[in-house]
Amino acid sequence: MYLDLKADDEDGVVSTSIHYHDVIIIGGGLTGLRAALQVSDSGLNGAIVSKVHPLRSHSVAAQGGMNASLGNVPGEDGTSDSWEMHAYDTVKGSDYLADQDAVERMCREATATVYELEHMGTVWSRLENGKIAQRPFGGAGFPRTCYAADRTGHNALHTLYEQVLDRNIPVYEEFFVTSLVKDSGRCIGCTAIEIMTGKIHGFISKVVLMATGGFGRIFNRSTNALINTGDGQALALDLGVPLKDMEFVQFHPTTLYGTNILMSEGARGEGGILINSRGERFMKRYAPNSMDLAPRDVVARSIEQEIREGRGYDGGYIHLDLTHLGADRIKERLPGIRQIAMDFANVDPINDPVPVQPGQHYSMGGIDVEINGGTIFPGLYAAGECACISVHGANRLGGNSLLETVVYGRLVADKIIKDIKELSEPDSQHMKSAVKAVESKIEEILGRREGASIFKVRENMAETMFQKFGIFRDGQIMEEGLKEIKKMQEKLSHLTPNNKDLAVNQTLIQFLELEGMLKIAEVVACGAIKREESRGSHTRIDYPDRDDDNYLKHTLAVLKEGSIDLSYKSVILGMFEPKERVY
Ligand code: FUM
Repeated sequence: MYLDLKADDEDGVVSTSIHYHDVIIIGGGLTGLRAALQVSDSGLNGAIVSKVHPLRSHSVAAQGGMNASLGNVPGEDGTSDSWEMHAYDTVKGSDYLADQDAVERMCREATATVYELEHMGTVWSRLENGKIAQRPFGGAGFPRTCYAADRTGHNALHTLYEQVLDRNIPVYEEFFVTSLVKDSGRCIGCTAIEIMTGKIHGFISKVVLMATGGFGRIFNRSTNALINTGDGQALALDLGVPLKDMEFVQFHPTTLYGTNILMSEGARGEGGILINSRGERFMKRYAPNSMDLAPRDVVARSIEQEIREGRGYDGGYIHLDLTHLGADRIKERLPGIRQIAMDFANVDPINDPVPVQPGQHYSMGGIDVEINGGTIFPGLYAAGECACISVHGANRLGGNSLLETVVYGRLVADKIIKDIKELSEPDSQHMKSAVKAVESKIEEILGRREGASIFKVRENMAETMFQKFGIFRDGQIMEEGLKEIKKMQEKLSHLTPNNKDLAVNQTLIQFLELEGMLKIAEVVACGAIKREESRGSHTRIDYPDRDDDNYLKHTLAVLKEGSIDLSYKSVILGMFEPKERVY
């Protein structure tokens, strides 16, 4: 269904493939797959370009569930959930930085989205009465999180991928996107390296949708897959599109000590409790009402404080205790994390508490988009974790990420389907020069002489980001961190991958990822330094209070003459006035 033209060899472009599609979707996770289905069903010729096979996308690792006010399980007072309550919890959880129009839309769409996945084949866990099961999650006033044991992302991703296969939607898998291509102020596609061969391809399209996920791996101690390197955010920044609220980085309270693999919040939703080295349920001091099910920013900060004040175990962890839940419940509802704890920590949660510590988990910030997913750059759209629409504000609630991927994957695709009618055919001439520019860049990088390890730079960056831009932040320490990041950028500009092959050169791919990651790290650092308040996940020990007078606003970051330039824009308020958060 697509045009595969060989570009001629003039201008030194050798055996380059140029592909044409109406819509190019970059990323094969839940957002990308859901968008691809919508585009295909509208009759448009869409394709997915993905760094990995879609089933290896990080969505597959999502454990706990998807929020929707189905109302299948009543609240403590016997009342039933509603989309308004879901929206309220989301906005409060966001520390009032979320745009309330986008939150309202997501929460209204949630119920239909869960049923839609069910009808496509997602195997949701069930209640005794046969209805879709729902469990409590952090910061939620009702048991609202629908789940498939603790493998919800795996289940949903396979469902959507089957649908993609059913429609024969082209997937260019193991293609690493190297640039977004523009013509007359409009995005007309992208270039990408085919990882297997090293060949550069050009993808011409009327519209590009970024669905590339998060940038967690700029931090160490992350639950994220190694592929989560913020490629989409870096590409958008290079094109001149602002990144929004990048300083808001989520640290999940419970990651397995030693490897930082996620231990789902579903474990606490099922009744698991957090215990310090004195045997105390310390959350009663920090969130007396919600305890272990306060939102993530609150729980992660509390655990970190316990550890810093000497009430953790050696090496810096606390216990997640599930032993009282009983073997049957653990085996039925939490089989995945039980297996992970046994394999990676030699602990069976049926018998012993699991050692956990907070770890980087999610990026609330991302490519600045309006409520329909459009960027300031015509032809470029973004959705899912790589975008900031913004439904999570300064702190995301567990279970709202899977929801956002599928809701906005569909809604942004709907907007594209509408907008594309007005767009003319892009001019393919620009693609040839874009491909040539990437070829020259790669030739230059591989031709450099300095051999120091790029992996060391990546490790240093991740360590610096965790230590200096972690759960607790301080102005002076962050300034030092920013200087270190800039030195790393300078260092990388002289380095070269030690593998000079073109085919399957993963070192080259990691080099290109790292270039982008260091840019993203700089954006996070600049935004965090300039935001002189504490809000949601951004906790400054030198500015401990939320400051609505000066900072109830979104941060926007663009590249200007090689430096990060910050500006701010208003938060869209609505049904809920900002208040002090009490949990
Ligand atoms: O804890 C979890 O299962 C993670 C869920 C989420 O990030 O939404």
